[in-house]
Amino acid sequence: MTERVGVIGAGYVGLTSAACFTHLGHEVVCVDNDRSKVDELGRGEVTIAEPGLTELVRDGLSCGRLRFTTDGRELSDVDVVLLCLPTPKGKDGDPDVRVLEEVVATLPGLLAPGCVVVTKSTVPVGTGTRLAELLGRPDLPVVSNPEFLREGHAVEDFLNPDRIVIGSVPENRAAAERVAALYGETNAPLWFTDPASAELAKYASNAFLALKVSYVNVLAELCEHYGADIRDVGRLMGLDSRIGPAFLVPGPGWGGSCLPKDTAALLRTAEHAGVDFGILRDAMKANARQRAAVVRKIRRAITGVSDGSLSGIRIGLLGLAFKAGTGDLRDSPALAVARELARSGAVLTAYDPGVETVEPDIVQVVDDPYLVAKDAAALVVLTEWPEFRELDWERLAAATERAVVVDARNLLDPAAVAEAGFTHTGLGTDPNRRTR
Ligand code: UDX
Repeated sequence: MTERVGVIGAGYVGLTSAACFTHLGHEVVCVDNDRSKVDELGRGEVTIAEPGLTELVRDGLSCGRLRFTTDGRELSDVDVVLLCLPTPKGKDGDPDVRVLEEVVATLPGLLAPGCVVVTKSTVPVGTGTRLAELLGRPDLPVVSNPEFLREGHAVEDFLNPDRIVIGSVPENRAAAERVAALYGETNAPLWFTDPASAELAKYASNAFLALKVSYVNVLAELCEHYGADIRDVGRLMGLDSRIGPAFLVPGPGWGGSCLPKDTAALLRTAEHAGVDFGILRDAMKANARQRAAVVRKIRRAITGVSDGSLSGIRIGLLGLAFKAGTGDLRDSPALAVARELARSGAVLTAYDPGVETVEPDIVQVVDDPYLVAKDAAALVVLTEWPEFRELDWERLAAATERAVVVDARNLLDPAAVAEAGFTHTGLGTDPNRRTR
């Protein structure tokens, strides 16, 4: 059934939801208070780099079922309204819900009776109840429907989700089913639960992913000590169907706009409840240490000792974004490593397919991967773009001052880069050991 859907917030979650629900046949009005963004989107100009998103937005505009506005009054006839507003990390790690609450306070004056109010962006446990109080209108049922979209895969994840989570109080079950029906025919497990469980499921999933990466990062350090290979250990763990192969690749740490924020928020949620969730604190500490460990590894590869001076040393960086497939620099471990190297006096040049500029006093960003190698004492892979594997490593070796590569993502084939002339250092792998 076609529904009239309102989306508040045209950010990453809101725009993806608006475009995908239009694609699924609904009529969507997307409201954002940024006039220039609304104008751009109305012309089909999408600045968020997500595969397939621009096409869906343009399709929606041309068939007339998607529109963008700054005017909240256009929500007056929607059946369902999705709240897709930022809940950034606030004081002490608690999510900052001020924007969300300010917007919700305006809704009673805008929405028609029966309109379902849906929290889509990540919200603290208990928000559903709090919003129902704030709305103060029992005829506006509140339903939780958290998103689990990965950057770089948002459209794909929206249209083929692992699960669809719908949380509501029992009295709002009909509203919850209405929200579920928005997704149309889907193979994804559809799960109805209470609001707190839905809200918690989102934090629990992201924090668990963070734990998994911290676990493998510490394990990589252990592998180095005992001459084991994390690539084998990770693969063998991943073959256990209870563990699964994803999120077992060591790197400079987990970052981005979600995992750090959500892990801190879950820890705070536990603290508020008087529950000791120390393993989350440990995972956060391990994550901070991991960035420093990568810097030490780079120092050692270049100077022979882990506290050697990098003053005036040229280093070429491959990757700056927090992960491949995006140009997002928010809480990027790669950028944190770059900052630390710059603080130590290194002269940095970087190439990242998704990044055009960063603070120029830290690193000069170039648009050609071969330029980063020029006269460098080392190359460092900081983001796992698959295309780095396909570079002409002999050409890179010839351009460097010393053919040293630190692969902080275990992306490269150590044998292939060694054949090209590089001395290779990975994480938790001994370069002299056999390769798969
Ligand atoms: C995450 C969740 O995956 C998604 O479900 C949620 O809704 C939003 O947050 P995203 O922020 O796009 O998605 O990043 P994700 O793909 O989860 O990666 C998080 C971090 O972990 C990145 O810094 C990544 O490089 C790192 N990572 C991931 C590793 O270091 N090793 C791995 O094996 C996997």
